[in-house]
Amino acid sequence: MSANIAEMEKRREAARMGGGQKRIDAQHAKGKLTARERLEVLLDEGSFEEVDAYVEHNCVDFGMPNTVIPGDGVVTGSGTINGRLVFVFSQDFTVFGGAVSERHAMKICKIMDMALKVGAPVIGLNDSGGARIQEGVASLGGYAEIFQRNVNASGVVPQISLIMGPCAGGAVYSPAMTDFIFMVKDSSYMFVTGPDVVKTVTNEIVTQEELGGAVTHTTKTSVADLACENDIEALLQVREFFDYLPQSNRTGVPERPTSDPYDRLEPSLDTIIPASANQPYDMHEVIRKTLDEGEFFEIQPKHAGNIICGFGRIEGKTVGVVANQPMVLAGVLDINSSKKAARFVRFCDAFEIPILTFVDVPGFLPGTAQEHNGIIKHGAKLLFAYAEATVPKITVITRKAYGGAYDVMASKHLRGDLNYAWPTAEIAVMGAKGAVEIIFRGLSTEEQAVKTKEYEDRFANPFVAASKGFVDEVIHPHSTRRRIALGLRKLRNKSLENPWKKHDNIPL
Ligand code: COA
Repeated sequence: MSANIAEMEKRREAARMGGGQKRIDAQHAKGKLTARERLEVLLDEGSFEEVDAYVEHNCVDFGMPNTVIPGDGVVTGSGTINGRLVFVFSQDFTVFGGAVSERHAMKICKIMDMALKVGAPVIGLNDSGGARIQEGVASLGGYAEIFQRNVNASGVVPQISLIMGPCAGGAVYSPAMTDFIFMVKDSSYMFVTGPDVVKTVTNEIVTQEELGGAVTHTTKTSVADLACENDIEALLQVREFFDYLPQSNRTGVPERPTSDPYDRLEPSLDTIIPASANQPYDMHEVIRKTLDEGEFFEIQPKHAGNIICGFGRIEGKTVGVVANQPMVLAGVLDINSSKKAARFVRFCDAFEIPILTFVDVPGFLPGTAQEHNGIIKHGAKLLFAYAEATVPKITVITRKAYGGAYDVMASKHLRGDLNYAWPTAEIAVMGAKGAVEIIFRGLSTEEQAVKTKEYEDRFANPFVAASKGFVDEVIHPHSTRRRIALGLRKLRNKSLENPWKKHDNIPL
């Protein structure tokens, strides 16, 4: 018996050593943690339960039978984050560069299947040279098995990817199909073809970091949601982020105790809107002053800053927040902001997270760049996402809600449940000056000023919309949190279903 146990321990130890001390040292020298060290930071202490530690590859070509390493380049299993179950895989770069073999993929698929069966999130730690070259198509098949599971799990359990090393070629498409991607600056990159191929085909000279590093993907492309300084920061950020997410689409949002009173008044919000309509203010302040303890986890903070998306809590329960940001491009909707917010709204709707929308939007961004790049189609994404969402939707118009953008931003007409406006709201087809220039052409400057004032008096307020029932109530800014909290209580048992369909056809 003791010999059997000793044998088991010996094999376990071999699996723990991965590709050996030399490669572990090399990993550390790059400023990276090993696959197992990462799981220690990510999961609650002592909660990790590994599976498939003894799985080996089945490749018989290129001398591979002589190089068999238990675990085959990925550590898989389950654990907890602040007590809540999560399934994890962590690719081990010290074993064949974390490259994906048929068996390596099978291990990932096994924990994904389990996560789907029991309804718990999956977090993937990616650090891999891609398809295991020695295995050829067997490896590609393995990837596709993972892709299929990513799609099956989408909208059922949250999926988070951490990119903590190379992620290139077809390998990028598994993270790309997960809900959120966090990257580590300077040590991780994602691209379909690397700098060498780019140079050969297009003659462009570009570094890995410029082509697909964390900064590129969190500013330019929006492929990733957050860029972190190092492995530890990325893992700790994911722990904090995880606390906001439901376990699955059937569990509802997580709850945690809060000492922040639901009816806390915020007198400073009564004066936050500047006297001039063209002067910006920071919508973050409105958001933080409304949420529990001022805590807000923003996603994609460096991309399309004209719209803010992220999670917070009201009375301890998660809400998704979408808000126009007057500080960036005056808060207009454009291609990037529409796409960013549409995906966020759809995530919230899929996982029964109520959506809180703060509106201060002067309209859509004009210009050939926007029109020729398809603002019609991309703007429609956000409109579509809001319209199809059946979760509780509470909207607060703080200032401008002009034109089609008024409709888009969770208006009453798109089944907004509670639509509030501050007394400073201006709900109209467009700003007064623009409106007068169109409907009263050829007026003198003085006449124009008179008509502009008339238009402002008539339309630059929330009361026309309120008189039609498009705004449910004009509220004191200082009572916004109380209104929202009471609204969410009311909407807790909201039940609304869209007509049966196989799936919709959102403009992609
Ligand atoms: N298949 C099999 N083994 C791989 C691999 C792959 N796709 N990618 C890396 N490895 C192995 C290397 O042979 C090396 O093995 P060793 O430790 O026994 O020498 C180890 O992983 C580390 O790779 P190395 O190239 O030394 O690391 P690096 O940090 O300098 O470079 C990469 C990392 C990913 C940029 C580089 O390994 C690479 O270009 N790999 C191939 C990527 C690819 O084309 N994948 C297939 C298409 S998706």
